[in-house]
Amino acid sequence: MKKREQLLPRVLKIVPEVKQGLSRSIIITTIYEAVKLIPVILIKLLVDSVVEASSTLSLVGWIIVGMFGVYLFSNIFDHYSDKWAHKQLLTYETNILKKAQKKLLELHMGYHEKHNTGLHVSKINRGASKLTELIWFVFNEFIPTIIQLILTSILLLYEEWTIAVVFFVFSSLIFIIINNTAKKVQPLRKIYLKKHEEAFGEMSQSLQNIGTVKDYAQENKEYRIYSNLLTQYKNASVKRNNYEMNKVFLRDFIINLGRIVTLLLASFFVLNGKVSPGSLILIYTLYEKAFISVFRLGKIYTHVGDSIESIHRLSDLLDKRVLIKDKKEPVRAKKLEGKIEFRNVSFSYTKKLQILRNINLTIEPKKVIALVGKSGGGKSSIIKLLMRQYDVTSGAVLVDGVDVKDYHSEDFRKRVAIVSQNVEIFNRSLKENIAFSKPKASLAEIKRAAKLAHAHEFIKEFPQKYNTMVGKNGVKLSGGQKQRLSIARALLSKPDILIFDEATSSLDSASERLIQKAIFSIAGKTTMILIAHRLSTIEHADEIIVLGKKKILEQGNYRQLLRKKGIFYEMVSLQKMRG
Ligand SMILES: Nc1ncnc2c1ncn2[C@@H]1O[C@H](COP(=O)(O)OP(=O)(O)OP(=O)(O)O)[C@@H](O)[C@H]1O
Ligand SMILES: [Mg+2]
Repeated sequence: MKKREQLLPRVLKIVPEVKQGLSRSIIITTIYEAVKLIPVILIKLLVDSVVEASSTLSLVGWIIVGMFGVYLFSNIFDHYSDKWAHKQLLTYETNILKKAQKKLLELHMGYHEKHNTGLHVSKINRGASKLTELIWFVFNEFIPTIIQLILTSILLLYEEWTIAVVFFVFSSLIFIIINNTAKKVQPLRKIYLKKHEEAFGEMSQSLQNIGTVKDYAQENKEYRIYSNLLTQYKNASVKRNNYEMNKVFLRDFIINLGRIVTLLLASFFVLNGKVSPGSLILIYTLYEKAFISVFRLGKIYTHVGDSIESIHRLSDLLDKRVLIKDKKEPVRAKKLEGKIEFRNVSFSYTKKLQILRNINLTIEPKKVIALVGKSGGGKSSIIKLLMRQYDVTSGAVLVDGVDVKDYHSEDFRKRVAIVSQNVEIFNRSLKENIAFSKPKASLAEIKRAAKLAHAHEFIKEFPQKYNTMVGKNGVKLSGGQKQRLSIARALLSKPDILIFDEATSSLDSASERLIQKAIFSIAGKTTMILIAHRLSTIEHADEIIVLGKKKILEQGNYRQLLRKKGIFYEMVSLQKMRG
């Protein structure tokens, strides 16, 4: 596996906006933390003034007023900075989410066909929330804590250097413990994160395929798989926590030891008259503050460790290269003539298996072409190349004499429509589903397309007609209804190239005939490619291409091919025999 970049550069690549806030935050925090130390010093003065009989009441009063002023300042500062931070974090989080969605939409089909959607959603969600949490931690904990630690250490050193030395010795011990713990915990953390992800992957898979789970009565098995993974997650997490807790115990013991040594030393100094009673309080308070800082830094360490993996995963996704993209100055085409050429095209999805070899094919504009061949022969793949969902391995696909790679892809895809084998329906209204190809279409236009696709008949039966919501993946529609909806969608945009990939396979013979009639009624207006298994549906095509063994085996119109008594003839005879 490729070695990952460091976390910080990756974070800054995802949210470069953070950089701007960093120096400002350091300056503001330094001032704020310095102001927060004033009461600590004031307490020392207060104690010493109270102890000394000579001090006046007004001095004590001023000290208290000063303290009140600082507290008030802190309150106001916290109030505004919390508000600002909340807004800022939400901006970061939404920006990350938008970036991820943009990336996913840009990524080529090949990527999406390989990866599970549910996993993406969890990866993006977790990555975005962990990253914003981390940013929050850096600004609200890490920077203030470091600054606090520096300021208190300086003050402690100034006030009583021997105590400062005690502090440095004990805090070094603590850092060693924290560092060791983090190293030991990392592998355990990886295990439980992985189990957690697997459990959620399983859960979403069971729900995505809930119909099959229920059909085969596999609810218990699915539940067991999920619950086993959760148990493994729990065990790994408990193991990690126990380990950490043991170290926390040791750490706290060392802090307490440090407290006692400090108190002993400071009391000794007071008794000897080396420092004042006020100083004892100041020293002790500084010591506590400094140790709290060390303690907080330890927590940040753990927190960063917890987030690192999720952030890296999100970053891996954002770094994915988009393989299919427009060139610098693409050819803009508002309209296509519709001539299609495959020039010596070879193609494979993976290095191991070639799908198409040296395909040469010319489709004249406005012709109706049928593509036939056995299942898995590469028909849909040819269409994917034409739509530039994939790039050819060698050769070229040209439309109107221009390589499809050279077109502005948005322009190009607007002029080509496909009714694909796997109809994709959005959980939106029927109207919106049809208008997907032309969002600005009027209702009249939508209806016209629906009528042509014979979808209007079933749509008007729904109480809410075109406003009916169709459910997840169009569950409220039958297979044939979905196909008709998809045909209406393709017809609406009046494309220059129209592709039907098994577009009527779910329809009964009568409906199929009706739609075939509708399809052929627009013949001559656009270039059409029909992919069909039922050969009777392509009788009227201008040309039939028989695909097999990675290449074109036969080519001609229906009658010519029958007369040839070759493969096509055999296919037709076989279908006729089966009725
Ligand atoms: N995304 C993919 N990744 C890897 N291999 C793929 C992918 N899509 C299709 N294939 C393989 O490519 C070959 C051709 O598939 P294709 O979908 O083009 O066939 P088809 O002629 O349309 O078949 P059918 O008539 O069943 O729809 C098949 O062997 C298939 O396994
Ligand atoms: Mg296919």
